Amino acid sequence: LHYEVVLPAAGSGKRMGAGQNKLFLTLLAKPILIHTLEVFEQDEQCTGIWLAVKPEERVIIQEMLAIYGITKVKGLPNGGAERQHSVHSCMKEMEQVDIVLVHDAARPFITHNIIANLVRSAHDFGAAIAGVRAKDTMKKVREGIIEETVDRESLWMIQTPQAFQFDLIVQAEDIAEKIGFLGTDEAMLVERLGHAVHIVESSYENVKMTTKEDLVFGEAILRRRALETK
Ligand code: CTP
Ligand code: MG
Repeated sequence: LHYEVVLPAAGSGKRMGAGQNKLFLTLLAKPILIHTLEVFEQDEQCTGIWLAVKPEERVIIQEMLAIYGITKVKGLPNGGAERQHSVHSCMKEMEQVDIVLVHDAARPFITHNIIANLVRSAHDFGAAIAGVRAKDTMKKVREGIIEETVDRESLWMIQTPQAFQFDLIVQAEDIAEKIGFLGTDEAMLVERLGHAVHIVESSYENVKMTTKEDLVFGEAILRRRALETK
């Protein structure tokens, strides 16, 4: 089974507060963007990478691809104002493939094993997304007062990758664009169509580098992994 991956990388990283696209920040001296790209560069099932970028960052990113030997990138279209627009601009340039993965460029710790489970599940069922079980007690709050305690057994925290059969995600994105529906993830666009989306249990290590605390956690993961492979 083969897939191509869409990596939205055209954000501005406001919550990181670094005054630049957070994907250029380094973890153990290597940019976050490159950590993420290397996973897919080394994944045998991955046959192509699409990167949504800001126009003013395209040249620097192309230089980085050359320096780090990333060869699978097939296109770097302009990202849009929202993440969903960035993903869509990649999808528009892609040719028919079996499976499409959408993965945040800001999640560098995804593993080959989870990717393979997602690809298998998307192939079998059409749509599959990565998630982990909620760890804390979850309550619904309105105006500072608890409304109810939600059954934790049914709650999952959703990550990327999100994997789809090509035709399904293309159809879902086209409809969303037509009616101006903005989802917070790709699965929402597919759920809207009444199509079942399967969950693949992921890892708590697959965090998104969002605020500066995440960088500390991220470097700790890399250090531990480096020790484990020695
Ligand atoms: N992204 C994108 N286009 C956008 C917004 C986000 O391609 N218009 C990408 C980011 O580069 C990131 C991923 O989507 O890889 C997840 O988004 P997020 O973590 O929210 O990153 P930013 O939007 O850059 O950060 P912030 O929301 O703090 O500004
Ligand atoms: Mg954002």
